[in-house]
Amino acid sequence: MTPEQSTAEVSVVGLGRVGLPLALSFADRGLTVTGIDNDPARLSAVGEGRMPFAETGAQELLERVHGSGRLSLSERVADAAHARYVVITLGTPSFSHIEIDMRDIRSALDDLLGVLAPGHCVILRSTVAPGTTDFVAGYLAKHRDFDIGEDVFVAHAPERIAAGRFLEEIDTLPCIIGGVGRRSGDVAAELFAAFAAPIVQTTPVQAELAKIWTNILRYTHFALPNLLMMDCERCCANVFEVIDLINHDYPRGGIAQPGLTAGTCLRKDFAFSEERSAAPGMLLAVSRVNESVPLFLLEGAKRRIGALADRKVAVLGLAFKADTDDERDSLAHKLIRLLERELADVCAHDPHVPTPTVSLGEALDGAEAVIVATDHSEFRDPRTLAAIGERAGGDCLVVDPWNCWGAAQVFAYSSELAALVASG
Ligand SMILES: NC(=O)c1ccc[n+]([C@@H]2O[C@H](COP(=O)([O-])OP(=O)(O)OC[C@H]3O[C@@H](n4cnc5c(N)ncnc54)[C@H](O)[C@@H]3O)[C@@H](O)[C@H]2O)c1
Repeated sequence: MTPEQSTAEVSVVGLGRVGLPLALSFADRGLTVTGIDNDPARLSAVGEGRMPFAETGAQELLERVHGSGRLSLSERVADAAHARYVVITLGTPSFSHIEIDMRDIRSALDDLLGVLAPGHCVILRSTVAPGTTDFVAGYLAKHRDFDIGEDVFVAHAPERIAAGRFLEEIDTLPCIIGGVGRRSGDVAAELFAAFAAPIVQTTPVQAELAKIWTNILRYTHFALPNLLMMDCERCCANVFEVIDLINHDYPRGGIAQPGLTAGTCLRKDFAFSEERSAAPGMLLAVSRVNESVPLFLLEGAKRRIGALADRKVAVLGLAFKADTDDERDSLAHKLIRLLERELADVCAHDPHVPTPTVSLGEALDGAEAVIVATDHSEFRDPRTLAAIGERAGGDCLVVDPWNCWGAAQVFAYSSELAALVASG
């Protein structure tokens, strides 16, 4: 089928946390959309009007789009060619070799090779290593002899929206587009003009670098307070007080707060830059700092209450960040694995994630230590601190790198925390 015979205006390949809200948003702006995914469970959920994961406002949007008839679904990537625009939102994990894993993208390209025709525009929305968009263009040119930028168009339009903010940021966050050849950028920009966000055109590699360095900036930004937290423990200093000293009335930026820093994007995207870095090592060090926070918290607990074998430890939060149900690459799971290797009796509670957990009360009952792994809003509620005191007792050690209750202690007994919070 040529783009002139299109049955949809845009196809979105990969209905994950990026692709599904995007497909729904295109449909909501009046475009006819084909959503493609090879996971039958995901397709049936969407087909039945059920969001398969949490994203603010997306359930209502899905219901609206469902009624409009503008979204059709398929499990065949080749069906993407029914639309002029093919937006690829597949996962791009990294191998443990400091190298992007492009298998899903390669497989989708192979499925598309035979069905692409002049007029098609392939847009990579996935996060990719520098050079990948040119690789995609070269792959299509090599196997189909297309003149990229003249008859078939290829561009990178990276997703920079934060989970939970999709519907707000799709209309506000500048949309970076790096097109290959003379016209690809303009053709891709016509599609994203469906949204109100400003469009900024650049080269493919600059678009790729801008995306991964947006994440590297955040990953590094949080590694600094995490390293400071560890240094403060070594120096018997209070990290929250040092951070206040740094930031108070200082006019040239400030340091962030510590916490468990991970998630599928932050953890892998630095590897895409690092795979060809001329200065290998700096970003790996950033990763090592963030990855060592669970062990630091565990060791800090052991220094205070002794060996954890056969002692109940409650872990609050499994999601990789606050108020999301996304557990992918969450350090909470790493923390639990480390605790289990200490033979601790671990009980987890998270009100958001799909993994079954026990209730807050059950997790806290008889716990000798409570570790706040995710700063969900529910945990920041002073009633959670009160519940720790009631269910686990005043001598339960609370480990809270997030400073959930403003007591400014990474490690403190629950009675101490309650007194500090009460004294303001
Ligand atoms: N999740 C985020 O917040 C976020 C933010 C910015 C950028 N990104 C980037 O966007 C991309 C997608 O991320 P995601 O979180 O949406 O991933 P995801 O794993 O949630 O979604 C990928 C989807 O593709 C489907 N899929 C896999 N292989 C397929 C195939 N061969 N054919 C059809 N469907 C297939 C999967 O079933 C899944 O539904 C990644 O490159 C990621 O780094 C993600």
